[in-house]
Amino acid sequence: MSLFSPLRVGALNLPSRIVMAPMTRNRSPGQAPNALNAEYYAQRASAGLIVTEGTTPDASGRGYIDIPGLYDAAQVEGWCQVADAVHAKGGHIFVQLMHTGRISHPDFLDGAAPVAPSAIQAPGQIYTHEGMKPHGTPRALAAAEIPALIATYGRAAKLAREAGLDGVEVHGANGYLPGQFLAPNVNQRNDEWGGSVENRARFLLGAVDAALAAIGADRVGVRLSPGGVFNDIHDAPATYAYVAAELAKRRLAYLHIFDTKPGFDVAALIRAHYKDTLILNGGYDRARAEADIASGLADLIAFGVPFLANPDLPERLAQGAALNTPDQATFYGGGAKGYTDYPVLAA
Ligand SMILES: Cc1cc2nc3c(=O)[nH]c(=O)nc-3n(C[C@H](O)[C@H](O)[C@H](O)COP(=O)(O)O)c2cc1C
Repeated sequence: MSLFSPLRVGALNLPSRIVMAPMTRNRSPGQAPNALNAEYYAQRASAGLIVTEGTTPDASGRGYIDIPGLYDAAQVEGWCQVADAVHAKGGHIFVQLMHTGRISHPDFLDGAAPVAPSAIQAPGQIYTHEGMKPHGTPRALAAAEIPALIATYGRAAKLAREAGLDGVEVHGANGYLPGQFLAPNVNQRNDEWGGSVENRARFLLGAVDAALAAIGADRVGVRLSPGGVFNDIHDAPATYAYVAAELAKRRLAYLHIFDTKPGFDVAALIRAHYKDTLILNGGYDRARAEADIASGLADLIAFGVPFLANPDLPERLAQGAALNTPDQATFYGGGAKGYTDYPVLAA
């Protein structure tokens, strides 16, 4: 088994095990994907699977500047352009559904407070149209509001398919809304949405169930970052053993793990509870990717920054060619520079 062996993943036949990791690029003003976004993804269509940048399933989840959404007609039309451009090049594409919860600011929400499990402000700052500002102080969601918010994941999944996208990835990683529900330091609720691990996982599993009811489990993936501390999340490995076992019951397209925790073997913990299709990500090069696929630890490997800077990454990995240097200054926001102008190998 190698990085270049084909694999059936849910409803899709993928030509390789190489996945483009989800990356927010803040280049969709007005929240609808545009022609430049379509060009960027089409350039990377040689990935076995593209997972798009985080995309909010609801207006209340707009946490960063110029991130796309998937809740209105203009956004569906924009995603249609992206899906068509990627499919025209033979690619496959899942959209990542990311509700940012408390990692937001009223400036993005027409003046409203961000929503979160509990009214606990995230430390640090967020980049707004007026420069850096502290994260907004969130308001705790009322229990009665939560089912409707969960339902937005089902609606977005349905809209994704209407746009021609191949499926959705529910973003449960990196301390956004589902991750905020999972983490006891951020979720201090004492109703059915907080406290026990079953209660803390209810939002994420509800979002996953809404998506799979809408489009089928074979077109739904989930991303988790067990033990991650990004966005001030402090959680226990035991939470993820439970979540992985629950997800395994659902026969999803895949589980996607972002794993960069020194001293904590996240991948082994997850593999013990999840025997189905598993994507691993975080700091991979070709040698490590081949080793983890050969050992059966992972079924696919996602590459983030290497894909951002190398539209033809699979070809470069196949040839052992040198990689372009990523330009960090153009990661978040801007136009074509640092987005669609990275060179491919000479023919
Ligand atoms: C510019 C940038 C934007 C990112 N945006 C997202 C995102 O929207 N959703 C997500 O789950 N991860 C996001 N990530 C994390 C990447 O998916 C990936 O986990 C990380 O880059 C590590 O993989 P790598 O070492 O192959 O780059 C982002 C990373 C970068 C560099």
